[in-house]
Amino acid sequence: MGSFVLQAKDIRKSYTVGDVTAEVLKGVDIAVEDGEFVAVLGESGSGKSTLLYILAGIDKPTAGSVELLGRDLASVSDEELAAMRRREVSFVYQFDNLVPHLTAYENIILPLRLDGKKEKECRDIALDVCEFLGVGERLNNLPRQLSGGEQQRVALARALATDPKVIFLDEPTGSLDRERGRQVMELLGRINREKGVALVMVTHSAAHAAYASRRVEISDGVVVK
Ligand SMILES: Nc1ncnc2c1ncn2[C@@H]1O[C@H](COP(=O)(O)OP(=O)(O)OP(=O)(O)O)[C@@H](O)[C@H]1O
Ligand SMILES: [Mg+2]
Repeated sequence: MGSFVLQAKDIRKSYTVGDVTAEVLKGVDIAVEDGEFVAVLGESGSGKSTLLYILAGIDKPTAGSVELLGRDLASVSDEELAAMRRREVSFVYQFDNLVPHLTAYENIILPLRLDGKKEKECRDIALDVCEFLGVGERLNNLPRQLSGGEQQRVALARALATDPKVIFLDEPTGSLDRERGRQVMELLGRINREKGVALVMVTHSAAHAAYASRRVEISDGVVVK
């Protein structure tokens, strides 16, 4: 048994809109070990994105505890959480990942610049990551000048540039055709195996979930298997 990058216990989340309260997560337990690749499956609306935001510290649960990289997120300050997200934890969103007015290159180095790294060091890291992922061309393009697959690879390059211990991914292949989706999944497999980065990926594709080392399915707010 390795050590855990993530341990979440009895996660609950309710949303209130007007006078209607909906309980989206009803007590989810999930743990991820060092270097694991976990796929979270479930139907549309089952609460996968909600869960991922909570696990990554982007949103807070209504109840329950999340321990991320050994820290209890309920007692971590906003600054500490921001620092974790610049250095140890990356997130790839379901839609609109990249900052629209920055080039692909500027997007990739953004977290490094925010962390105070010098231009030269940023360039070296970016070149390294881009070589690993096979992202070499079109680095001076703006996101809207890239195809969906290219944008998704740039988002992966940015997620990897900080040398994180864990990357959360929300439907990273959702907007891609089958072949581009397969290519992104191959890259994720390599990031996991060759870099040892733990991945927690939401998907509703059983084929893509097959790339993971473990699958967790949620339905009606709880883990069903
Ligand atoms: N900010 C919010 N306020 C109110 N309700 C919300 C909010 N965010 C999500 N919900 C509700 O929570 C439920 C789960 O949403 P969530 O986005 O987590 O689903 P999902 O499993 O990621 O779906 P999909 O596969 O379509 O992305 C939905 O019914 C949604 O309407
Ligand atoms: Mg979602």
